[in-house]
Amino acid sequence: MDALRQKYIDAIANVADESTLEDLRVAAVGKKGEVSLKMRELGKMTPEERQVAGPKLNALKDELNSALSAKKAALADAALDERLRSEWLDVTLPSRSRGQGTIHPVSQVTEEVSAIFADMGFTVAEGPQIENDWYNFDALNIPPHHPARQEFDTFYMNRAEGDDRPPHVLRTHTSPVQIREMEKTGAPIRVIAPGRVYRSDYDQTHTPMFHQIEGMAIGKDISMANLKWVLEEFFAAFFEIDGIKTRFRASHFPFTEPSAEVDIQCSWVDGQLRIGEGDDWMEVLGSGMMHPKVLQAGGVDPDKWQGFAFGMGIDRIAMLKYGIPDLRAFFDSDLRWLRHYGFSALDMPTLHGGLSK
Ligand code: PHE
Repeated sequence: MDALRQKYIDAIANVADESTLEDLRVAAVGKKGEVSLKMRELGKMTPEERQVAGPKLNALKDELNSALSAKKAALADAALDERLRSEWLDVTLPSRSRGQGTIHPVSQVTEEVSAIFADMGFTVAEGPQIENDWYNFDALNIPPHHPARQEFDTFYMNRAEGDDRPPHVLRTHTSPVQIREMEKTGAPIRVIAPGRVYRSDYDQTHTPMFHQIEGMAIGKDISMANLKWVLEEFFAAFFEIDGIKTRFRASHFPFTEPSAEVDIQCSWVDGQLRIGEGDDWMEVLGSGMMHPKVLQAGGVDPDKWQGFAFGMGIDRIAMLKYGIPDLRAFFDSDLRWLRHYGFSALDMPTLHGGLSK
């Protein structure tokens, strides 16, 4: 029994991993382990022999069991120590720098414009960028073969060969949203609709995709005076410049009568664009009183209701406000440009918190 004891005590002491230790446990005190087999032999002994051997065997079993569990704990501690050593991590090291994105001026200005018009009771709507012929043209009093269709430099979608229906278009303006919103809610109405529009045009102040914000207010006695007040109120808030000069020019759109285009005073000095000074003008919007046929197309009775509408170039007013000289750079995705002209994500424009950084 002493030899057995010594054999296992030594073996346990020398074990280096938990699975060998488990093998040892089975070999010693497992069901068919050496100690267990010895215990079975107790039955064949005389009562006197058993009285001596029984307690000794039990003591041996206890001793081995506690040696096994002590070793098991020691191995687990060692394993943990090893993990702590190998998985050690210095949390005080500076982290890898993460590129920080910026909010594009167009997004920022869209938010700014929305905040100002929301304050005047306008809700925000959106419409599809792929529009059908009717919403983009006919409903806005631009029938087929109307010369205004040519002025728009429209991008047409493809129709399958032999399909004679008019092709869908990339909307040339946000005005189709006027019709969609009238259909949706009827009069009275006060809504703005920002979004992308498309025309085949490209120079310093024109890109084939650009952004407009449509505005529309319909009521029983809405007039041109309301239009002028709303726009002047808007420009004062947006540019945060007292007495910023605007110019209302009589104009023509098929969907408004009378119509006016609005320019903002600006100057170009050494390629620098500045607003509120100089004797250049930048056209920023078209507007007017909604044509009765347009109200009708939207399901609004022109004998009961009247309204104004305007369409403003978001990119244009962003250029003016933030002194960005070339519109094309807006859509080049040049990171240096985006970092320079972009806004912090935390810089949400609100009327009370200030509209610009
Ligand atoms: N849709 C016109 C354009 O894109 C702008 C406009 C909108 C004019 C609403 C009058 C009324 O040029």
